[in-house]
Amino acid sequence: MTRRRVLLGLAATTLLLAGFTAAIVAGSRPAGARSASPEAIKRGAQFYASHCAACHGRAGKGDGESAAGLPIKPQDLSEGRILNTLPDHWMERLLRDGGPGVGLSPLMPGFERLLSDAQRSDVIAYVRTLAEPPYDPARVLAVPRERSGPVQPIFFSHLIHAGSFKIECRYCHSGAARGPAATIPSVATCMGCHKIVAAQGNPEITKLHGYWQRQEPIPWERIFKVPEYVRFPHKPHVRAAVACQTCHGPVEAMERVSAQTGQSLPNDLLNLVGLRPDPPKLTMGWCIDCHRASNAEGKQAPLECVACHH
Ligand code: HEC
Ligand code: HEC
Ligand code: HEC
Ligand code: HEC
Ligand code: HEC
Ligand code: HEC
Repeated sequence: MTRRRVLLGLAATTLLLAGFTAAIVAGSRPAGARSASPEAIKRGAQFYASHCAACHGRAGKGDGESAAGLPIKPQDLSEGRILNTLPDHWMERLLRDGGPGVGLSPLMPGFERLLSDAQRSDVIAYVRTLAEPPYDPARVLAVPRERSGPVQPIFFSHLIHAGSFKIECRYCHSGAARGPAATIPSVATCMGCHKIVAAQGNPEITKLHGYWQRQEPIPWERIFKVPEYVRFPHKPHVRAAVACQTCHGPVEAMERVSAQTGQSLPNDLLNLVGLRPDPPKLTMGWCIDCHRASNAEGKQAPLECVACHH
């Protein structure tokens, strides 16, 4: 009887694990790896001329006749360096919901009612042909389709800042190379760009200007946090050339920062069936595993208790 129950339990666990594995594999498939037919591109060009050219210009340079009156310039769609990192599902959301769907301005309208899903996908295929350097679907960032993590007081997209515009992590998190905390940029740092960039025409930037005028800090929700009794210094890790992404994941591809840390059900299940998965991020096992591995490569990462505990 008990043996049968154990067997049943194991079977259920295996099923669950198969499910998780399938989900993980599906989630890691590169996004946007589909190529459009010449017909689709031709149809897209027609929709573009009727729905987009007034603002973005006939050749996509952002110089349509309606552009002059807008406080934020319609994007130059031939700028491959800015657009080529953004996957199709991000473009689909932008064209469906307009700028606010992805953290941009409502001056970029949504086309949910004016164009069908298929028509919007044709327009995207056409827009891709304008990019210089040319668009390569294999090189888009793996942006998660579903956003997770806390909703922040301002829609601040790492994908736009660090992924598309390629602003260095350390430009904003300047503490990381200097001291224990990486630090979140001050309102003044944001204003260094946003006194000019998109200064009018996006309610999210209006919120930013409100914090600036009231001289209030932005109450960002904290995401990565070790308990009070642990000491984690950024500086030695940066000095040892450990990439931010090793510990934080591909932040440049995140529209909202989130973290999988601490104990988790898949991890517990894998341990239960004896598979010894990597310890979850920010647990003690995670720190120790990497310190051991680093020391095997000649680094001097501490293993003694007092290095990490006061
Ligand atoms: C009423 C003017 C207007 C129309 C019409 C319009 N756009 Fe835009 N679009 C904008 C503005 C303004 C921005 C810049 C938004 C920002 O930076 O916040 C923009 C931004 C974009 C972006 C850039 C995203 C990025 O990464 O910066 C893309 C792509 C785009 N539009 C595609 C289109 C397509 C395709 C159409 C037609 C289906 C279209 N737009 C129609 C005004 C317009
Ligand atoms: C333009 C400024 C800017 C740039 C560039 C930038 N960040 Fe951020 N970062 C922020 C802001 C603002 C927050 C707080 C809001 C949030 O979580 O999205 C943040 C939050 C984070 C967090 C979560 C902090 C927490 O609460 O635990 C991590 C991790 C992070 N950034 C890593 C990176 C990495 C890695 C890069 C480069 C790939 C990067 N950031 C580039 C401004 C920036
Ligand atoms: C180094 C310059 C720089 C800094 C610093 C910076 N940004 Fe940006 N930000 C940009 C650029 C460039 C864009 C894209 C504008 C575009 O699409 O035309 C942008 C876009 C935005 C947008 C969308 C605006 C729009 O409609 O285009 C928001 C909201 C935003 N940033 C918030 C912030 C916040 C909050 C901070 C501080 C934590 C910050 N930014 C720091 C350069 C910067
Ligand atoms: C070895 C792993 C590791 C690396 C590498 C790393 N971080 Fe962190 N980061 C952490 C941990 C752990 C925390 C939580 C620290 C705490 O709670 O005191 C954290 C917290 C943060 C925070 C929020 C709190 C703070 O420190 O201000 C930001 C922002 C951040 N990291 C950005 C970065 C950036 C940017 C880089 C690359 C320059 C980077 N991190 C590299 C592990 C790492
Ligand atoms: C991805 C690998 C990696 C992870 C994860 C990691 N570390 Fe490290 N750690 C290192 C390396 C590499 C060094 C530097 C070794 C050197 O300087 O030779 C280091 C150094 C340190 C130091 C020594 C600081 C000094 O002043 O010399 C402390 C303390 C530390 N880590 C704490 C932590 C804690 C706490 C965690 C987990 C929350 C953690 N580390 C996670 C790789 C890692
Ligand atoms: C490289 C950094 C590092 C070293 C070295 C380290 N710890 Fe930890 N320890 C941590 C972190 C990070 C946590 C927080 C774990 C969590 O929240 O899951 C922790 C948690 C703990 C806890 C809390 C119990 C728990 O699991 O929640 C105890 C007790 C502890 N450590 C004892 C020790 C002892 C004893 C040593 C020396 C043999 C040691 N640690 C060495 C990083 C370290």
